[in-house]
Amino acid sequence: MDSKQKMRGFRSPDIKVYHELQGYSKGQIYEGFIGCGGLYLVSKMLRLMNIKKGGIILDLGCGFGSAALFLAKKFDVTIIAVDLWNSPQMLVERANEEGFIQKIIPMQLDITKNIPFAENYFDAIFCMNSLFMFGGESDFLKRLFGTLKAGGTLCIGSECFNKEPDYEVIPEVYNFDWDWSVWDGCCSKYHSPEWWHSMIDSTGVIDIQYCEELDDGRILFEDFVMNYQDYVSKNIIDMGAVIPQERLAQQVQYGIEYGLCPTLYILKGVKK
Ligand SMILES: C[S@@+](CC[C@H](N)C(=O)[O-])C[C@H]1O[C@@H](n2cnc3c(N)ncnc32)[C@H](O)[C@@H]1O
Repeated sequence: MDSKQKMRGFRSPDIKVYHELQGYSKGQIYEGFIGCGGLYLVSKMLRLMNIKKGGIILDLGCGFGSAALFLAKKFDVTIIAVDLWNSPQMLVERANEEGFIQKIIPMQLDITKNIPFAENYFDAIFCMNSLFMFGGESDFLKRLFGTLKAGGTLCIGSECFNKEPDYEVIPEVYNFDWDWSVWDGCCSKYHSPEWWHSMIDSTGVIDIQYCEELDDGRILFEDFVMNYQDYVSKNIIDMGAVIPQERLAQQVQYGIEYGLCPTLYILKGVKK
């Protein structure tokens, strides 16, 4: 079966459910994002976050800063936008162009090596499609959450599996070498919402109020794969940051047939 046949039957989300995105084109919803979800995922995360005027928010693993720009547009807050791969230059230019340079402070650093923020500093930590890459260790997470104020919000929104894989028998669709090892660099770290619930819970400092696979998480993945050419920009493909469309189509198809599905989840908690 070629990838076009595989994608027949893939679905798109119901845009009416996303009132925040009325007037946005499909391309704008994914502009500058690395991975699945785009502003659909951002919208659902922000609904849970109870963001207050004047707050300081950490956007951790901000990529090109598209979520930070959306936050700056919607709320009167300051956003510290931290990323490892991407230089702050591009986000400064984007923030300047859109008139939000006063609200977004971009920084480039490896958060696992350096957490250069005061204790009890942030009103919220927003972490989209990034924590799975570096956040699978309880002691590190506990140090990171030390920067969140008591009563502050942690919101993680991310690609994941709908359930834990059988680690003894990893399907080839998730375990192959491409520019890099897709299993080691990505899929082995996805885990399930339940796994992330217990990982965050193990820190003992977050009261988890919500942790679920999105009701349209699998649909958002199908839509992402189907519209890959429109959603993923050339520079992101050139960076090798998103695996090829054909491979993603195989993963979605595998999920439909065998039940281990790529999807999206959100976890929201409050610092104790
Ligand atoms: C898949 S991208 C998602 C980017 C962005 N949140 C988005 O949704 O478009 C993951 C991001 O996590 C960042 N990242 C990975 N490891 C990191 C680390 N140790 N410290 C800070 N950022 C990290 C990468 O630089 C990358 O931009």
